Amino acid sequence: MYLSPPDVGRLEETYLVRALRSGWVAPLGPEVDAFEREVADRVGVAHAVAVSSGTAALHLALLALGAGPGQVVVVPTLTFVATANAVVYTGAEPVFVDCDPATGNIDVALLADLLHRLRVAGQRVAAVIPVDMFGACADYDEILPVCAAARVPVLADAAESLGSTYRGRQAGSFGRIAALSFNGNKIITTSGGGMLVSDDAGLIAQSRYLATQARQPVPHYEHQDVGYNYRLSNLLAALGRAQLSRLDEMLARRRELRERYAKLFAAVPGVRLLGDPREDGPGAAGVRIAPDTAGSRGSNCWLTTIVVDPEQAGWRAGELGEHLAAEDIETRPVWKPMHLQPIFSQSRAVLTGAAQRLFDEGLTLPSGSALDETQTARVFHTIEQFLAQR
Ligand SMILES: Cc1ncc(COP(=O)(O)O)c(C=O)c1O
Repeated sequence: MYLSPPDVGRLEETYLVRALRSGWVAPLGPEVDAFEREVADRVGVAHAVAVSSGTAALHLALLALGAGPGQVVVVPTLTFVATANAVVYTGAEPVFVDCDPATGNIDVALLADLLHRLRVAGQRVAAVIPVDMFGACADYDEILPVCAAARVPVLADAAESLGSTYRGRQAGSFGRIAALSFNGNKIITTSGGGMLVSDDAGLIAQSRYLATQARQPVPHYEHQDVGYNYRLSNLLAALGRAQLSRLDEMLARRRELRERYAKLFAAVPGVRLLGDPREDGPGAAGVRIAPDTAGSRGSNCWLTTIVVDPEQAGWRAGELGEHLAAEDIETRPVWKPMHLQPIFSQSRAVLTGAAQRLFDEGLTLPSGSALDETQTARVFHTIEQFLAQR
C-alpha cells in the first residue's frame, strides 16, 4: 500500500482517449491551453505555462528571474532535492535556511537575518524559494514583506500545495511566480508534469519561450538563446484537466484521512501532527485541523506527517515505520535536509537543528485520496496494534 498513489479512473480515461482521438499528440495543443487556463483560474492568477515537471518549472522560473553564476538563491534546507537542484542548474549558489519546527516551513526570522547579512556582504540574491511543506503554505504574510524589503523576488515552490489556502488565497498565488508539480504522487497528477503560475505576463512569456527551445518567431528554426524541451504534452494535459475537475473531491478525502489520524494520535503522548498544532498543549485531545477561516491556513493535507518525541512517547517514529512496512504499508521519513545531503555538504546553511530533528522524529503516513476504506481500515488497525504493544 503506497503513501500517495495516483487517483485515476474512468474520467481520466475518457479525457485521455478524447485527446488521443483529436489527433493532437504533440507537446502543444488545445488541452494544454485549456489546462493552463483552468489551473490559473483555480489558483487565482492571470497566467500559466504547463511544463514537463515541477523541477523544470523551478528551473525556468529561476532563469526568467535572472538567476545565474555569481548569485545566491535562498532555499529551505527541509525540502525535496529538486528545489535545490534547480538552483544549481542555473549556476547560482543555493544557501540553505532551517525551518520552523511546528510546520516544517522556512524559518522567517533566520531568512530575514540571512538576507540582511548577504546584503551587507554585497552578495546578489536572485530569489528566495519558500516551499509549501507537505502541502501547507509557508508563512507568506511574513516572508513577502521581508523579501520585498530586501528587494528579492519570491519564487514559491508550491509543488505539493495545489488546493491549499492561506488567508483565503490559493497556494500558487504568492510571490512573483510559483511552481506546481503534477508528479504521480501529487494531489493531482499528469503522471509527470508541472506548471508555472503568475500574474506577471513577462515572466510566464519568458518561461514559455525557454521551455520551447527558445525558438524565435520566424518560419525557420532561429535561436538566440539556449532553450529547453520542457513543454507538457497535449495528452498529459488532458489527464490533468480530468484530475483538476476532481480536485475538491480529492481534497475532501485527504482531509478526512488527516482528521482520522488526528483523532487517533490525539490521545497518544509525545505525538503531534506536523503543521497542526495541538490547541491544549502536548497530550491533550484537541487537535486543530483548520479549514481556512480568515487568519488561518487550510492545508490540502497532501501528506500527513506525525512527529514523535521518543522520550515522551516511549517509541521512535522509525519503529512505527518498520511495523507498517512489515504489513506492506509504505511510510517515509520527512525529507532529509539538504545540508545533510552529500552533494550539498559544502554549501552554506543557517541552522537551528529544527529540520534535522524533524528528519529524526517525523514519519509520513499513507495519505492518498485513492486509498479505499478497506485499505485505510488496515492502516489504522496496524497502527493501533503497534500502539497497543507499547
Ligand atoms: C517541494 C518539491 N519541489 C519540487 C518537486 C519537483 O516536482 P517534479 O517531481 O514534478 O519535478 C517536488 C516533487 O516531486 C517537491 O515535492
